[in-house]
Amino acid sequence: MSMHDYLSSTAPVRFQPLTRADRDAIVAFYDALSPVARYQRFHHPVTRLTPGLITLLCNIDGRDHAAIGAVVGTALVGVGHCVRLPEMPDSAEIAFAVSDRWQGCGLGRLLLQELAEHALQNGIARFHFSVLEENDAAVRLLAAADASLHTAGGQTHGEAAVAAYLPSDNSTVFHPRTPGISRRRSSNPVAEVTP
Ligand SMILES: CC(C)(COP(=O)(O)OP(=O)(O)OC[C@H]1O[C@@H](n2cnc3c(N)ncnc32)[C@H](O)[C@@H]1OP(=O)(O)O)[C@@H](O)C(=O)NCCC(=O)NCCS
Repeated sequence: MSMHDYLSSTAPVRFQPLTRADRDAIVAFYDALSPVARYQRFHHPVTRLTPGLITLLCNIDGRDHAAIGAVVGTALVGVGHCVRLPEMPDSAEIAFAVSDRWQGCGLGRLLLQELAEHALQNGIARFHFSVLEENDAAVRLLAAADASLHTAGGQTHGEAAVAAYLPSDNSTVFHPRTPGISRRRSSNPVAEVTP
């Protein structure tokens, strides 16, 4: 397939909660990220996921650690995690990544919206996050209207109300940069994304 054909194709993206049973797909997703994307995700060089990191990433219970996957066909192209803070149970730390090939298409924003919806249903009202200071895409994505941000040691830390990340229109979302992207709201949300 030529790049033109690839760029003009439209792929349906589904968002679904991940479980411990998705361990192999989650590991394959992180292993397939570029070294730069893995560095941005974990804030240090990660050549391959260690057993300890795999345990952390896959210890999903859907409540205190929820993970949402963006799936095209059978491939995981994005993963977002939401981990409740034990000392502040109405708050959670979030972290996420989108496959290199799919970055910049609006998937990160949709994934964040899915995480926000799931979090609110589980009694989480505030998101906390840490991203590398130079990670413009992540900072832009997370800098919700009321987010409080501070930068130290090369990292931008922040927190914001989960509600600030919900889609403004509950029926359809159009990404401003890619008019071809939309998400239909349903019990099994589907987005049409042109990579
Ligand atoms: C951060 C990340 C998840 C964003 O996902 P994405 O699908 O590429 O992002 P989107 O296409 O939804 O764009 C999100 C916002 O970032 C902006 N953006 C995207 N790529 C950008 C870039 N290279 N530089 C500056 N801004 C960028 C978009 O304009 C958009 O803002 P807007 O809606 O106000 O226009 C993705 O780049 C990624 O996986 N990076 C590696 C891992 C990582 O950094 N994780 C975050 C730390 S936990």
